[in-house]
Amino acid sequence: MKLVTCCSFKGGAGKTTALMGLCSALAAEGKTVALFEADENRPLTRWQENATRRDTWDPLCEIFIADEMPLLEAAYDQANGRNFDYALVDTHGGSSELNNTIIASSNLLLVPTMLTPLDADEALATYRYIIELLMGESLVVPTAILRQRVPVSRLTSSQRAISEMLSALPLTDTPMHERDAFAAMKERGMLHMIIRDAATNPSMRLVLRNLETAMEELSLLERFVSNALEH
Ligand SMILES: Nc1ncnc2c1ncn2[C@@H]1O[C@H](COP(=O)(O)OP(=O)(O)OP(=O)(O)O)[C@@H](O)[C@H]1O
Ligand SMILES: [Mg+2]
Repeated sequence: MKLVTCCSFKGGAGKTTALMGLCSALAAEGKTVALFEADENRPLTRWQENATRRDTWDPLCEIFIADEMPLLEAAYDQANGRNFDYALVDTHGGSSELNNTIIASSNLLLVPTMLTPLDADEALATYRYIIELLMGESLVVPTAILRQRVPVSRLTSSQRAISEMLSALPLTDTPMHERDAFAAMKERGMLHMIIRDAATNPSMRLVLRNLETAMEELSLLERFVSNALEH
């Protein structure tokens, strides 16, 4: 089982949304996904409730509550014992003992960030924190910055400058753009399941194209993650 974690000091950086998208892309490839809910606000549990109501939850995925150390350990043992392909961990913002343990146990770390000066500063601080923590424990865990909520339209000069600055760090090769299809996942469920429904509904034909474009972006992220885990 490969453990992939989204973390950032900054609240609202797009961790949960990136994780939901990655989960959908993995499930669309037939992978089994254990979702570790390490944020006590339980956004993934709410996601599952909404998705179940709309029949857009993929049964290949299952949530394990992991917002305290003993629960995290139990979640890992259970999911690993049941041979899940992936465990995706959604952390709360900031640093904590729980987050430290998760970081040190991960096979891949993603640090989502928007392209504002404040967000980029926080992403840099998070990246540095991760590297220092790993070095302190003599661990090597591939870590990449994920540019999140990038405007689909032309970037402003400030956004371009921040993008340029971030490119000094390891980045996922593609960003996630700011898209309604991503923002809507928390209410509507897993994107590949939403697309499955939209494809058979003539009144959804117009949005289907947008949903598919968003899904293509998630497939690229999924490919980046699988490649990073192979090496
Ligand atoms: N790529 C995107 N396109 C559009 N909206 C997005 C995107 N990514 C995130 N959002 C929206 O931004 C808000 C914050 O995102 P999210 O909840 O994923 O951040 P977070 O880092 O998990 O926050 P927290 O620190 O509170 O856990 C949400 O309303 C979400 O729908
Ligand atoms: Mg979150």
